[in-house]
Amino acid sequence: MKKFHIHTFGCQMNMHDSEKIAGVFTEAGYCETNGIDDADVIVLNTCSIREKAEQKFFSELGRLARAKKKNPDLKIAVAGCIARQRGKDLFRRFPYVDFVFGPNNIDNLQTWAKGGNFKTAIEDNPVYYTQKLPVKRAGRVRAWVSIMYGCDNFCAYCVVPYTRGRERSRPAEDIYDEIKTIADEGFREITLLGQNVNSYGRKLPGECDFPELLRRIHDIDGIERIRFVTSHPRDFSEKLIKAMRDLPKVCEHLHLPLQSGSDRILHLMNRGYTYEDYKNKIDNLRNSINDIAITTDIIVGFPGETEDDFKQTVTALTEIGFDGIFAFKYSRRPGTKALDLPGHVDEKVKSQRLSMVLELQESITYSRNKSLEGKVYEVLVEGESATDGDRLTGRTRTNKIVNFYGEQGLTGSLVDVKILEAKQHSLYGELAQSRG
Ligand code: 5AD
Ligand code: SF4
Repeated sequence: MKKFHIHTFGCQMNMHDSEKIAGVFTEAGYCETNGIDDADVIVLNTCSIREKAEQKFFSELGRLARAKKKNPDLKIAVAGCIARQRGKDLFRRFPYVDFVFGPNNIDNLQTWAKGGNFKTAIEDNPVYYTQKLPVKRAGRVRAWVSIMYGCDNFCAYCVVPYTRGRERSRPAEDIYDEIKTIADEGFREITLLGQNVNSYGRKLPGECDFPELLRRIHDIDGIERIRFVTSHPRDFSEKLIKAMRDLPKVCEHLHLPLQSGSDRILHLMNRGYTYEDYKNKIDNLRNSINDIAITTDIIVGFPGETEDDFKQTVTALTEIGFDGIFAFKYSRRPGTKALDLPGHVDEKVKSQRLSMVLELQESITYSRNKSLEGKVYEVLVEGESATDGDRLTGRTRTNKIVNFYGEQGLTGSLVDVKILEAKQHSLYGELAQSRG
């Protein structure tokens, strides 16, 4: 039996794409291996959101030259966003690559895996959103479900609209059927995936909108928790807040990327909202849903960002008090509008701003986590903790990681856990009672 190995870079979207890639190979009669030494096919599923992610991929691909020399029959495939953007160029620098396919061309992998004689599949695939690919899911408790592909927002810094193409929503019926299958397989939690889930259905005539989609899938038995990423603040509506409030399975967590606290920078970024708009939505959300956890993405050092603009981001972080943030230094991306903006910020200044933001957030996250000590929360058990082997690990509805002692058999069940100690990135607790 032939063996495949997948190395995934980047976001949840990519991790889920890798599950589809694994599904295709499994269907074609391959089995998965964790190592590269015994693999017959290695797939690098790439990310180009920032330069650093690209560099990681290029050094990994460089290393694979040796593996190919040792085993000339080894096939190397490059998938994902870099594949789509660089296409045939990759063969010039890395002649030992066998196949290059984009995020919307996983269907072509089906033919290639069975011995197809072609080297690239990166063209736009306008029917990708209707295709049903096999999926080999990594976990047994939580599952990802794509509800839409691509993005039409063209934020000035972002490469995604160029690598994943135009926004296309999957038919609600297909999404419903997939979740039903997932539920029958025993999964308890789903995360709906899209670059901008709030605009779900906008371009599908007669299709429901996102809040309505949530309502429809809410009745699927077996699924206990529903999450979704990513929301765009501009399209985050009152109607969605109501759906989140009224639907018990929708978890009390929202990831809402702010990017900057300065209206001038938000405008240059083409984000379509002001800090005040954003703050009002957060206030509304917090008034409607008790104890909701809110996380965000921040970019520091966007072209033209002055000390004063940066201070406004710091103020925003202090005022809002996020549960957690992902913060990044602005990174130049080929083909994006921000490349041509004046006032690119010095790398050193970007690093300083990033450290300041991370340090500030560390204390905010810690004090928010600390306030949970002594309270009891529902936790969905995911299995043994990867970092803390003796303990089980799971998440609260607010997406906080909790580690605690308990029987392996609890995996997949909802339990009540009392929080004993808060750490920066996780919580430690003890089992209060099992609810099955
Ligand atoms: N530079 C830095 N961060 C970026 N992101 C997207 N593009 C860039 C870039 N060019 C960040 C944004 C986005 C997250 C997924 O990645 O904050 O929300
Ligand atoms: Fe990129 Fe903006 Fe689309 Fe998000 S909404 S994927 S940041 S262009």
